[in-house]
Amino acid sequence: MLETVLAAARAGEQQSLEHLIELCAIPSVSAQPAHARDIRHASLWLSEHLRDIGLRADMRETAGNPIVYAEWRHPDPTRPTVLIYGHYDVQPPEPIEAWTSDPFTPTVRDGYLYARGASDNKGQFMAHVCAVESWMRTTGGLPCSVKFMIEGEEEIGGTHLGEFIARNAALLACDVAVISDSELLSRTQPVITQGLRGLVYLEVEARVATRDLHSGSYGGNVQNPAMALAQILAGLKDAEGRVTVPGFYDDVRVLSVAERAELARLPFSEANIVAETGASMAFGEPEFTVTERRGARPTLEINGIWGGYTGPGSKTVLPATASAKLSCRLVPNQDPATIQARVVDEIRRRCPPGVSLSFLFHGMSAGTLIDLDAPEIRALQAAAQDTYGARPLFALEGGSLPVVLDLQRALGKPIAMLGFGLPEDNIHAPNERFAIECYAHGIEASIRFLDAIGRMPSGRA
Ligand code: BES
Ligand code: MN
Repeated sequence: MLETVLAAARAGEQQSLEHLIELCAIPSVSAQPAHARDIRHASLWLSEHLRDIGLRADMRETAGNPIVYAEWRHPDPTRPTVLIYGHYDVQPPEPIEAWTSDPFTPTVRDGYLYARGASDNKGQFMAHVCAVESWMRTTGGLPCSVKFMIEGEEEIGGTHLGEFIARNAALLACDVAVISDSELLSRTQPVITQGLRGLVYLEVEARVATRDLHSGSYGGNVQNPAMALAQILAGLKDAEGRVTVPGFYDDVRVLSVAERAELARLPFSEANIVAETGASMAFGEPEFTVTERRGARPTLEINGIWGGYTGPGSKTVLPATASAKLSCRLVPNQDPATIQARVVDEIRRRCPPGVSLSFLFHGMSAGTLIDLDAPEIRALQAAAQDTYGARPLFALEGGSLPVVLDLQRALGKPIAMLGFGLPEDNIHAPNERFAIECYAHGIEASIRFLDAIGRMPSGRA
């Protein structure tokens, strides 16, 4: 049976790609209010698509963006249940001029599908949708019960999914949750996620005057908010990349010798960083390796910084304000609210007289560790090995997936995470893409995983 379903998926590859192209053409950018209708369009498209392939599906309204929920219940109630998570929202495409083809005109080039969201996360969750479709079309059913929960606020750290999960624990009851929203190490090296970092995101505005000023009439006689903000921010890290905010590292667990040895086994190095980014060298806390810095150390970064005149030519202006967006990646032991407060305190402490600060907060989430000692995780390992031909490695991810902690709290079930994308997919950057081969492998891995779960003794949901 498994072989027949896999063969059907291979035969249906073109159609699977067409579905993904349709979805990627919808500019469901959650950060930008102008795309509110596109968010709804994407959720509607998805619920219809899930119904088309034979599931019960609908849109669950929240105070924010709708959540698409779908399910197929196995007639044998003792069969296990898999909950598949995904997010249909995408990051803003800017800077648009850096794209070779339009971010929302999905384009196939050199074996990749180029579009915003192709890899993060539309292509990855659609691989699961196509796997389900392949089972349904070939056998008229699935080897186990399946639920989909696909949200629209992941890229903005939204709060409504967390509320939905807490309120709907019975609806979401399952034996294992599956998430594909990370990446392989390479086309032939799968990775199962062992942990993720948390996030605190804030915006700060420095203000001096009530309006922009002539920089000749007033320059040298009042504070310059851009200069003041630059000085404040420059002090938040030392020259070697250590965060200077007092107490920032207080709750960071010191890695044991054994943990460091385990992390050192990952085939990931400065050379990967250089090759993947185009930076001339890696940079960060010198006492840690790049693997440790990515997964087991917190950081603070400027995500955006602006103020004054940035158009063509020159304008002699002394801006009234300057602003920055900042975020911290956190490791599991750190409390996001505490870190947020410490960062704000430090920014205020560094603020010179004559400059007033205001803050805006864009949500927070804590880091998580995954319990890998579950039969469902072993089933995912086997599915990955059979698909990619290599035993998956376990790795701590640098990115964040707030849903993981919400699911752990509400369901207490294993969370099986296998990324289908590649490090060179340009997620959150111009020319995001998803390799067609990765899509096919994702579909295959998902088909195998559902098969393996269906063979497990009995549902525990
Ligand atoms: N898919 C990413 C998370 C990710 C990236 C995991 C790379 C592993 C490797 C996800 O869509 C994402 O970008 N999450 C945000 C969450 C934030 C807005 C709360 C992130 O990490 O910036
Ligand atoms: Mn993302």
